[in-house]
Amino acid sequence: MSEASLNTRRILLIIGGGIAAYKSLELIRLLRRAGASVRTVLTSGGAEFVTPLSLASLSGHPVHQALFSPDDETTMGHIELSRWADLVVVAPATAGLMAKAANGMADDLASTTLLATDKRVLMAPAMNVRMWQHPAVQANVARLTGFNGLHQVSLVGPDDGEMACGEFGPGRMAEPEAILASIRHLLSDGSGQSLAGRRAVVTAGPTFEPIDPVRGLTNRSSGKQGYAIARALAELGAEVTLVSGPVALPVPEGVHRVWIETAVEMKAAVDAALPVDIAVMSAAVADWRVDGVAGGKIKKAPGGPPSLALIENPDILAGVAAAGPRRPALVIGFAAETTEVEQNARAKLSRKGCDWILANDVSGDVFGADSNAVTLFRRDGTSEDWDRQSKVDVARKLSARIAAHFA
Ligand code: C5P
Repeated sequence: MSEASLNTRRILLIIGGGIAAYKSLELIRLLRRAGASVRTVLTSGGAEFVTPLSLASLSGHPVHQALFSPDDETTMGHIELSRWADLVVVAPATAGLMAKAANGMADDLASTTLLATDKRVLMAPAMNVRMWQHPAVQANVARLTGFNGLHQVSLVGPDDGEMACGEFGPGRMAEPEAILASIRHLLSDGSGQSLAGRRAVVTAGPTFEPIDPVRGLTNRSSGKQGYAIARALAELGAEVTLVSGPVALPVPEGVHRVWIETAVEMKAAVDAALPVDIAVMSAAVADWRVDGVAGGKIKKAPGGPPSLALIENPDILAGVAAAGPRRPALVIGFAAETTEVEQNARAKLSRKGCDWILANDVSGDVFGADSNAVTLFRRDGTSEDWDRQSKVDVARKLSARIAAHFA
């Protein structure tokens, strides 16, 4: 992202009580230089390390310190403050502040703001190495990062290194540049965007085409990418139907899952989910099914293996893209290629009649992996290369692009 991309973005910075608080002054400077507006909340611990005057001078706004302040509550109280922001950043995030946030405690302005916000939260932990490694702190970290949807807290750092207390190890707050990079990343991931009121259907996983009651043909697909997309769309407020083949994944929060086995069942479930605004077809659909599935188990015979007569499965993506008045406004397909990725993806885009196609090079180890490197090709000729990143990040990025498309 370019520097200008934080223009008009609003960052609420909460400064906890740790020696790393001095680095937050530099963070404010970097944020403002990137075009963001910054407001600050200073805890009583934080005020031991940096002064309200420094924060006010750098941010250009008064510092918020007290939960019950007649001045603040009539101008910008804790609820308003937490809603004003596009992103809430806690730097330094002390063990105490993280414990409060992990357990829903609200006994000062910082912790109350963290509970009241409806925006993403990024924390930059800073503490002594033994404190960071303590199971109580790690349990709080797991809790914060495991919350669902927008409540999920993102972390940047802590870094390894020498600490102010003379010990060495993880616990140093991430450098301001690294925190800025995380802020950019989170804000480019759809924060502030919405798909509220939009309906989506997502296909995921393989299909399973029976040969007889115990055997079948299938494709390799973990379903991870499709499930992450369903979840990311739901996080932005879309109403999502996830049509899934057999995979070992839990139903994402807020998503309606329809469980199918065969391509014919998948097509029926997708058709039943229409009309929708968005269709993302990420399933690895078997191209063929067996003509005349045996009612009983086919026995091994001395004459050798049986021959299977195969018939073509319906192309679900092409069908949805050609659904006439019921065609979704945005139809997105996937192309798993091993060679000439761009050429093949573009050919598939027009052959299937979809609007966007996400191409991944599957010559490596994509199947079942947690990360993916993809290129987004649009029908208008534009494309975007996305570096290898987690399938969750790919999903968030795609959802952000979808939200931008509808905005
Ligand atoms: O033709 P190919 O399988 O390479 O196309 C991949 C894209 O088409 C994916 O988006 C996949 O989900 C979709 N597809 C489908 N129905 C099929 C085959 C593929 O929806 N029968």
